[in-house]
Formats: sequence, structure tokens, C-alpha cells
Amino acid sequence: MDARSPEYRERRAAMLDKLAALDAEHAKALEGGGEKYVARHRKRGKLLVRERIELLLDPDSPFLELSPLAAWGSDFPVGASVVTGIGVVEGVECVIVANDPTVRGGSSNPWTVKKSFRASDIALENRLPVINLVESGGADLPTQKEIFIPGGRMFRDLTRLSAAGIPTIALVFGNSTAGGAYIPGMCDYVVMVKERAKVFLGGPPLVKMATGEEADDEELGGAEMHARASGLADYMAADEADALRLGRQIVRNLNHRKLGPAPGPVEEPLYDAEELAGIVPEDLKVPFDPREVIARIADGSRFEEFKPLYGTSLVTGWTRVHGYPVGVLANAQGVLFGAEAQKAAQFIQLANQSDTPLLFLHNTTGYMVGKEYEQAGIIKHGALMINAVANSKVPHISIVMGASYGAGNYGMCGRAYDPRFLFTWPSAKSAVMGPQQLAGVLSIVARQAAEARGQAYDEDQDRAMREMVEAQIEAESLPFFLSGRLYDDGVIDPRDTRTVLGLCLSAVHNAPVRGADGFGVFRM
Ligand code: COA
Repeated sequence: MDARSPEYRERRAAMLDKLAALDAEHAKALEGGGEKYVARHRKRGKLLVRERIELLLDPDSPFLELSPLAAWGSDFPVGASVVTGIGVVEGVECVIVANDPTVRGGSSNPWTVKKSFRASDIALENRLPVINLVESGGADLPTQKEIFIPGGRMFRDLTRLSAAGIPTIALVFGNSTAGGAYIPGMCDYVVMVKERAKVFLGGPPLVKMATGEEADDEELGGAEMHARASGLADYMAADEADALRLGRQIVRNLNHRKLGPAPGPVEEPLYDAEELAGIVPEDLKVPFDPREVIARIADGSRFEEFKPLYGTSLVTGWTRVHGYPVGVLANAQGVLFGAEAQKAAQFIQLANQSDTPLLFLHNTTGYMVGKEYEQAGIIKHGALMINAVANSKVPHISIVMGASYGAGNYGMCGRAYDPRFLFTWPSAKSAVMGPQQLAGVLSIVARQAAEARGQAYDEDQDRAMREMVEAQIEAESLPFFLSGRLYDDGVIDPRDTRTVLGLCLSAVHNAPVRGADGFGVFRM
């Protein structure tokens, strides 16, 4: 790639525009509940959610925040009133789930619940201890119908983590009422801040209504009461900083060990990561060579390509990232043919045989359609690849760089195929098919239906329908929209890809890394 070429400069300028838009959306998540609620929170002498996280983590260690755009495009504030991510405490990578009390009292809306579930899944799959920083008004009452029944999983997950030998910790800074009381209730270790933590099934008004009893909130759920009387608090903290200190002390005593192999020596790539901003064309119909990406994320820019002369629209090969061995599957020309699917299935089996994690770099418009391809068995070849991906047991990480359409999204380990992590570049687009194709298909179907009914087809209406559908599908295929719905773990700057991959690979090596013993029946 020539970084002085006009194409490069054009692509880079388009990417920088998209990154500026991304920064603006991230800024909304950072604002929490806005100035008024932030000021009120501070006046109460409390730390903001990100300040709590920063004090909890080892100084100058990275925090891999997850899904900061959750709830984007919904009626709820961007970020979904909870901050989740992976951070390092006393040298141990932990999943952090922290309520933002400046956003509607830290109450949980449908997106908060989805984001918390995702954090639990990450903890379980990668064997990472969980630290909950609790201060929440519980369920968002107006949307209780969306959260009450599925939300029960939050408590189920905590106890299943514990049963799987993965420690769970709750540091309670404020309210943790009603259902929320089961967060500390289900955790292995509980710290409560004196005169601040309030943990009860029913607060004073509810108790008065239910039984007529008069009681204040300290008697019902204060830290002092839980530390001395109920036994729900294992530690009483003098203040917030003390609670965070106690949280670090608990992690220090967990005797946590990573069960995956340690990384080898790390080499920096030979090519500049900065240039990752200028690789993906604005128009995703224009192909690009994913080796340009691999050269900028791989240790020493080394890449040992497997089957380079076969099924060339999928690039496969071995490399290392931050010292961890990785098998890469990367789309080259967009379309997947039978040969590519077979090559992928073989490569995935090899990675399972050698216990090597897989990295999927998406830029695909899906499997090839048409008479010739159907007759040559494109369905069974695609099924072969999807079978291999679905039953592979080594950790998978997906990066959606460009297109990720149709069943190609499944074959390349899209969200439904449970990659351990899935991050998106601002240039990405994902949908069942492209907007024009989808609108065109709808138009053909409508035209045929009108003909079958013996009715004339209204061309003006057809044009208006196609325009409307195209705009809708385009909007629904964009990264902010998809990230808002938790279909990825976040939208990242392409230039950060190597760092993000390094953090993910380090996290996945907390669990053993072992390949599958068997796959589903491969249809030949
Ligand atoms: N559902 C929906 N909105 C909630 C909420 C909840 N559970 N808890 C708080 N909010 C909203 C408030 O209505 C308020 O909105 P407004 O600013 O637009 O008026 C905003 O969040 C801030 O709440 P406020 O009460 O002013 O904040 P606070 O910091 O003084 O108190 C709580 C926070 C959590 C102690 C208090 O809001 C509360 O008791 N909430 C209800 C708790 C409860 O019983 N939950 C049941 C869970 S099953």
C-alpha cells in the first residue's frame, strides 16, 4: 500500500470523519446523566463511576471498556447507565460492572440488563473474576416488563460464576434495593460503605405499607447493620476509597492463576499502525487486501499464509499478536465461494488440532449465489464452514473491518457464533444483504404478487418504497446502531486494533485454550 497515494488519503480522510463522529458518541457516554446530576453526585461527596474504576485498577494499567455505545438510538442514554470492561486489579484481569448513579439513579433499563449479561458471559468464558461497583435504583420501573423476567439471569449468572470457581465481588457504594439487593446477596465477597450503602428488599415506605412497621434506612439496610447484624457485609469500608482498597485486597487474596499458556516474546509490527486508518475504501464494493491490515497488527509483520493459491478470496495463515499464536481468516475479494468455505473449514480444524486461537477479519458480502454455484453445492460448502466455526472450541475474536453480510457473517464468526470478543471498525456494515439488493428483492416480490392478482403495478409507489427501504436498511447496518443493540463489544479506532487484540488475547488466556475433540457431521 502506498501511503502517499490519493486513494490512501481519501480513505484516511473518510475514516477520520467517522472517528470524529465516534468520539462525539463516546463523549455522550462519558457525560453520564449530564451536568446537573454529576454536580449533585459530587456535592454528596461521591466519586463518579469512572473515577471509582480508575482507583480500583492498577495504576497506569489499561481498561478495555465494553459496549460504551449500548442503548444508542434508543430512548435511554448512550452507555445504558452501566460501565463494563476488563481491567487489571493486583495483576489480575477482572470484569468490572459499575453502575452510573448519575443516570436515572443508576437504574437498570433493558439495555443495561443486556450489557450486564454480556459482561457475565465474558467472565464465564474467560474465567475472569467479576467486581460489581454497586449504586443503583434497581429496575427502571416504567420498563419493568422488559427487564423483570429476563433480568433474573443477572443473579443466576453470579452464582453460576461462583460455582464454576470464578470469584464474584460486590463493592456497594449506595443504593442496592429490591432485586438489586441480590447483587451483593449472590456475590462471594461483599464490601459496604459506611453510612452510604443501603441494601434492603424494601425501603422505609414499602415496609410501612406492607406491615405498618416504622424503620429508617440505616436499620433496614445500612452497612453497619449488615456488617454487625445480618452478616451480608463481609467488610465495612470507612468511605469510597477504603471500599476500593478493600476490593483490591480481596483480589490479592484470590490466588488467581491464568490457565492458558503464557505469551512468547513480543515484536512490534514493521509497518505503521497509523496507516490502518487509510485501508478500507469508503465504498465497500471496492476490495482491499487484508494482508495490509495483518502487516500492521502482527508481531514482526510476520504472516505464514496457508493455501495461498487456493480459494484466494479468503486469506488464511498463522501469525502472533503480542506474543500469542493466532490463526487468521480474512476476507479478500468480498464473496465466499465453495473453495474458500472448504479452505476455512480445513484451517479451523487445524487451529483446533494445535490449540491456536482464531482471528476473523470480516469484509464479506456473503456466499456466492447463482445457478452455477448452487449446482456446485455452495450451500453445503457454506454449511461446512459454519459447522467448523460453530463447533470450534479455541477462542475466536472477530473484527468487522468492512462488509459483513448474509451467511458470510455467520461463517466468519458473527455475534451469533459466540466469538469471545467482537469489535467493529467505524467503516463496517452488517445486514442480511446490501440495502439496494434488499429493496430490489422486495420490489420484485411485490411486482410478482401484483401480477398474480392481475393488478397493475404502481411504479411511483415502487420507487418511493425502494428509497425508503434502502435508507432504513442502510441506517440499520451501521456500527453505532448495531453497537447500540449490543451486537458487538464496541466500535474501535482501526489504529487501536493491535492493542485491543492484545488485551483480548491476554484475557482469553485466563481460561485453558483447547481445541474441539469433534465437529458436527461435515456434508461432503
Ligand atoms: N426507575 C426509573 N427511574 C428512576 C428509578 C427507577 N428505579 N430510580 C430513580 N429514577 C429516576 C428518578 O425518577 C429521577 O428522575 P428525574 O431526575 O427525571 O426526576 C432520577 O432517576 C434521579 O433520581 P433521584 O431520586 O432524584 O436520585 P437520588 O440519587 O436522590 O436517589 C434512588 C436515587 C435510587 C435512591 C431513588 O431514586 C430511589 O429510591 N429509586 C427507586 C428505588 C426502588 O425502589 N427501586 C425498585 C427496584 S425493583
